[in-house]
Amino acid sequence: MKDKPDMGKQDFPHRDRDAATPAKGLLERASDIFDFSGALKGQGLPPLAVPPELIPPPPVFSPPAAQTDVPASAARPRAADWGGPVQAIDRAVLAENGFLVPGAPISGLAEEFRIVKRELQAALRAEGEARADGKLVLVASAHPGDGKTFCAINLALSLAAESAVEVLLVDGDVAKPDAPRLLGLQTGKGLLDALADPAVRIEDCVIRTDVPGLAVLPAGAGSTSDTEYLASARMGELIAALISGRPERIVIIDSAPLLAASAGSILATHVDLTLLVVRADRTSETALRDAAELLNGCRNVQLMLNGVKFSASGRRFGTYYGREG
Ligand SMILES: Nc1ncnc2c1ncn2[C@@H]1O[C@H](COP(=O)(O)OP(=O)(O)OP(=O)(O)O)[C@@H](O)[C@H]1O
Ligand SMILES: [Mg+2]
Repeated sequence: MKDKPDMGKQDFPHRDRDAATPAKGLLERASDIFDFSGALKGQGLPPLAVPPELIPPPPVFSPPAAQTDVPASAARPRAADWGGPVQAIDRAVLAENGFLVPGAPISGLAEEFRIVKRELQAALRAEGEARADGKLVLVASAHPGDGKTFCAINLALSLAAESAVEVLLVDGDVAKPDAPRLLGLQTGKGLLDALADPAVRIEDCVIRTDVPGLAVLPAGAGSTSDTEYLASARMGELIAALISGRPERIVIIDSAPLLAASAGSILATHVDLTLLVVRADRTSETALRDAAELLNGCRNVQLMLNGVKFSASGRRFGTYYGREG
C-alpha cells in the first residue's frame, strides 16, 4: 500500500485534457492512488475467506487432441448465436436511473465510460491476444451500493457502441438480481437455471436487445445451492458455451458485494479481469484490502473509481450520491 490511509481525504489526480500529458482515466487514476498489488499477493494479509474446495480451477479451453495439426483458432468449437427472446431496452428507464442512453448526445458520464472502455480493451488485449475466445470481465466491489451494477450497465452500453464488439451483460448477483430490471427487461430463465439443469441451453436464456451489440443474461431462479452451482465444473462449461471461438464477445458480469457473499470471489476465478469498483469517499482502505484479498483467484484485478467528479480547474468536488445530496 502507498502511505495514504484514508482514501476519502485524498485529492485525486485530475484529468486535464489540455495538458501535455495524455488524459488519464478512472482505472489509471485508481492505481495511482492506491497500490494494492501487495494485497493481491497476500502479503501479511489474513487467509482467503472462501473455502478452497469451493474455488474451481480456471476453465481451460484446449483444442481436441486429435486435431493438433490444425491451428488452435480453427479447431476451437464456436459458441452458438444467442437464441433467447428479443426485447426492447426502455430508454426512459435508462435515463431515469442515470445510465447512458444509446443515441443520446455525449455526456460527461459517456466520456468517462469511453475512457474506462479503452483502458479495459487495452488490458484485455494484453491478457489474451492469442486466445480466439471472448473475454470475461467481473465487476466487483467490497460493499453493497458501491456502484457495481451502475458501472456494469454503463460499461456494457458503452462497449456495445463499438462496431466490432458483441457485449453480453450477465447478472451474476444471484441474490439481488437488479440489472435486467434497471434496463426495463422482463426476465425468464438464466444462468442459475442453466447451471442446475443440463437440458437448459444457456444461449437460449440470453435476451437479445434492440441496442445493437448488447445482450443480457439474467441470473435465473435461485436456490440454496447457488454458490455450489457457481463453483461447479458446469460453470466452466457454460462459460465455454458463451465465449469459445468468439473473440468479438466481451462478457461483463455484475456481481454481489465481495464482503457480503462468496459468489463474487468464486466468479472471479473464471474471468480474465476483475474491475474492483471503489466508491470515492466511502470505501475504506481496510475494506478494499479485504476485497482485494478475496479476488486472489483472478489473475488481473483493476481498480475502478466510481463517484469522482472533476471541475474545470481539476479539483475534485463533492460526490456523496444518495448520502449528502
Ligand atoms: N457514479 C454514479 N453516479 C450516480 N449514481 C450512482 C453512481 N454510482 C452508483 N450510483 C447509484 O448508487 C446506487 C447504488 O449503485 P448500484 O446499485 O450500482 O450499487 P451496487 O454495488 O450494484 O450495489 P449492490 O451490491 O447492492 O447490488 C444506485 O442508485 C446507482 O444508480
Ligand atoms: Mg448491484
